[in-house]
Amino acid sequence: MVDKVASHYTGGGDLASTIAESLRRAGKDIDKLGTADLATVDEFHIRGRKATLELAHSLGLVASAHVLDIGSGLGGPARTVAETYSCRVTGIDLTQAFCDAAATLSGWVGLRDRVAFRQGDATSLPFGEAEFDAAMTIHVAMNIAAKDRMYAEARRVLKPGGRFAVYDVLQGEGGEVLFPVPWAREPSISHLATPDAMEALLAGAGFRILAVNDSTEESLEWFEAMAARMAQAVPAVTFQSFLGEDFPTMARNQVSNLRDRRIRTVTYICQV
Ligand SMILES: C[S@@+](CC[C@H](N)C(=O)[O-])C[C@H]1O[C@@H](n2cnc3c(N)ncnc32)[C@H](O)[C@@H]1O
Repeated sequence: MVDKVASHYTGGGDLASTIAESLRRAGKDIDKLGTADLATVDEFHIRGRKATLELAHSLGLVASAHVLDIGSGLGGPARTVAETYSCRVTGIDLTQAFCDAAATLSGWVGLRDRVAFRQGDATSLPFGEAEFDAAMTIHVAMNIAAKDRMYAEARRVLKPGGRFAVYDVLQGEGGEVLFPVPWAREPSISHLATPDAMEALLAGAGFRILAVNDSTEESLEWFEAMAARMAQAVPAVTFQSFLGEDFPTMARNQVSNLRDRRIRTVTYICQV
C-alpha cells in the first residue's frame, strides 16, 4: 500500500529537474525565484497558497515556533509558513522523491536553514512526545486508511495546548468519487472520511475542535479556473509536471466531484 501511494505521486525521474524545466518554459529565472513563483506546483492542494496562509493564521504562530507539516509533499506549505512567520518547519512525507525535491526547491528560494524534510509515515511519526508547538496536514489523509493512528500520532508529538490544523478532502453526500483524481488513479488508495467521521476521529484522538470551515464552493471555483487555464495553450507550471499526462482528466473530474458534492473540502482547527 505504501509503495502504491508513493508510486502514484512520482512516475520516476528527478522531480526538481522536471519542475525547473517547466518553470523555465513558463519564462521564470531559477536564480531569482520567490516562494510565490513556485506556488502553482509546490502548494499541492486545492486553493493553493491562500489555503496554507489561512491555516497558518489559525495556528497563531510566533517566530520561535517549531511546526510539523505531516505529508509535506514538495514542501510548498512548509516554506510559505517558515517565510511568513520566520519560524522553523519540519516536514515528513512517505514519498522519498518528494522529500528530495522539497530540499532542492528550498535551496532555490534561500530557505534551507528554516525548513527540513524527512521521509516517514504519518501513522508512525519518527519524533518524540511533545516535540512540536503546532502541526498541520494538508490533503494527506485521503491516502490513509488508519486515520485514527494518524491523528493519535499528531497529538502525541504536540506540546500541551498545541494547535493542529487539518485541511482535507472528505467524502461528500453526492455519490462515489469519479477517478482518476490527484490523490489516486483508482479507489484502492483513496480513503475519504465523511464530515461526521472526521469530527469523531479528531475527538477520539484527544483533540478539542475549535473551528470547522467548509470551503467546497470556493474549491469548485478554484478548480474551474485551473481547468480553464489548462485549456489555453500558454505554458503553465501545474501539478502536471509531476502527476503526468492524465492530470487534465483529474482536473476535469475534480470539477465534477466538487460540483456534485461527491467530495467536500473542510478545515478543522484543533487543540491538544
Ligand atoms: C496531495 S499531496 C499534498 C502535499 C502537501 N501537503 C501540500 O499540500 O502541498 C499528498 C501527500 O501525502 C503524502 N502521503 C500519503 N500518505 C502518507 C503517509 N502515510 N505518511 C506521510 N505522507 C503521506 C504523499 O506522499 C503526498 O506527498
